[in-house]
Amino acid sequence: MNLLERLRVKEQEDVTQESNVEIKIPAEPPVELEVQHPEMPAEPVERMHPVKVQTDDYQQLRSMVFKYILKERKDDDIEVIISDLDDIINDVLKENESLSHVTGLDSLKRELSNDLTGLGPINPLVHDETVSEIMVNGPHQIYVERNGKLELTNITFRDNEHVMAVLEKIVAPLGRRIDESSPMVDARLPDGSRVNAIIPPLSLAGPTITIRKFAKDPFTIRDLINFGTLTEEMAEFIKACVESKLNIFVSGGTGSGKTTTLNVLSSFISNKDRIVTIEDAAELQLGQEHVISLETRPPNIEGKGQVTIRDLVRNSLRMRPDRIVIGEVRSGEALDMLQAMNTGHNGSLATGHSNSPRDMVARLETMVLMAGMELPVKAIREQIAGALDLIIQQARLKDGTRRITSITEVQGLEGDVIVLQDIFTFRQMGVGPDGKIRGSLVPTGVRPKFYGQMEEQGIYLPPSIFIEREEPVQ
Ligand SMILES: Nc1ncnc2c1ncn2[C@@H]1O[C@H](COP(=O)(O)OP(=O)(O)O)[C@@H](O)[C@H]1O
Ligand SMILES: [Mg+2]
Repeated sequence: MNLLERLRVKEQEDVTQESNVEIKIPAEPPVELEVQHPEMPAEPVERMHPVKVQTDDYQQLRSMVFKYILKERKDDDIEVIISDLDDIINDVLKENESLSHVTGLDSLKRELSNDLTGLGPINPLVHDETVSEIMVNGPHQIYVERNGKLELTNITFRDNEHVMAVLEKIVAPLGRRIDESSPMVDARLPDGSRVNAIIPPLSLAGPTITIRKFAKDPFTIRDLINFGTLTEEMAEFIKACVESKLNIFVSGGTGSGKTTTLNVLSSFISNKDRIVTIEDAAELQLGQEHVISLETRPPNIEGKGQVTIRDLVRNSLRMRPDRIVIGEVRSGEALDMLQAMNTGHNGSLATGHSNSPRDMVARLETMVLMAGMELPVKAIREQIAGALDLIIQQARLKDGTRRITSITEVQGLEGDVIVLQDIFTFRQMGVGPDGKIRGSLVPTGVRPKFYGQMEEQGIYLPPSIFIEREEPVQ
């Protein structure tokens, strides 16, 4: 729906309300009017906006402003209209002096911009930069993630239909639909944030929306160091690994920060390289000039036209890439990726879902089998051992922080076994007074086998960073 259509619908809704004085239900009730769900804690964090009961004149003004926008500003961008809302409301008030007594203009403004951008009550959360994820569990329970911690908000939708209306506004512009026949959808907001929705009957809590916000300013290596995800020294080490074209896999659980780390790793790639990125939903934000971003496509409503990560990996090999960066390896594409890594596409980067480097290797074996080729286990292990150089294991700790918990070299195959060697491991040093886990990556004392290879390429790391010790050197 474009702005014009959206406004028309709104206007329709408003007109219906005006003609129906008996049961006056606002089309999109503002946050202020929402009732608190009985199951929510009695004293949630703090109310986002003061509770206020609205008058008929308020509703009338709202509807006049809509009509005004529809008439006078229909060709403008929504952002421009929203930034001009003060002036617009003033103009409408000048033309309609009988409404000049209406109070609550701030909340009117907020409500209008929520309606214009189409996300209703969760709009403020979408624009709140401290919120990294939004989780709508049915109409009456909305959680957010801030600084790695879950928080229950006091924002609610009116009912299931209200959530569905917002969902439709999210998916319709993408040519997708969400209803009983297609009750699960992945979509993206215009700003790049990822949206997943699953609705009844599959979701018992009511329509459930999960929004992973797109970081406007992606984290840099400096941020990760400041967060304590890794130390300065580790950063140097990892940078050298990327520059010397090692094949690196970032492993970790959901939300452990894999994609963020992958983005940071990719930032170390030379500006001269031709980089092809492959993702399910484009999240990586690379600063280099020569980047080609590829994105998969889900099947259409008839179940046709799907393009998988595997298709894209295969295609990318014909694109003369210097570097292939794969957002997440989940299935048969593992085989194509390993083959690429083994046949001259060094310096490839990828992530995978797993809880330890050893587990990651085992999962890769399974994923290669998913490619549908009857390969003997030994051959698969040879591929893995030959292709991968380094596994960076990441975790989200209990205190909400994301840490790199080990940096592990894939040394090769001994007999049937893939030999893994930790170069750095996480050492926990107690819990701070703030409840934060204290600890850091420390060297295990083993110098990686690829150290020589790095030196050959003129990339120098002081050998002292591999000397075993208890505390990190900062
Ligand atoms: N090192 C980090 N420190 C703090 N927060 C992080 C870190 N890495 C990622 N995050 C945040 O954690 C969330 C999940 O990160 P993401 O990289 O998408 O994880 P994954 O790819 O493992 O699912 C995002 O909101 C992101 O901003
Ligand atoms: Mg990810």
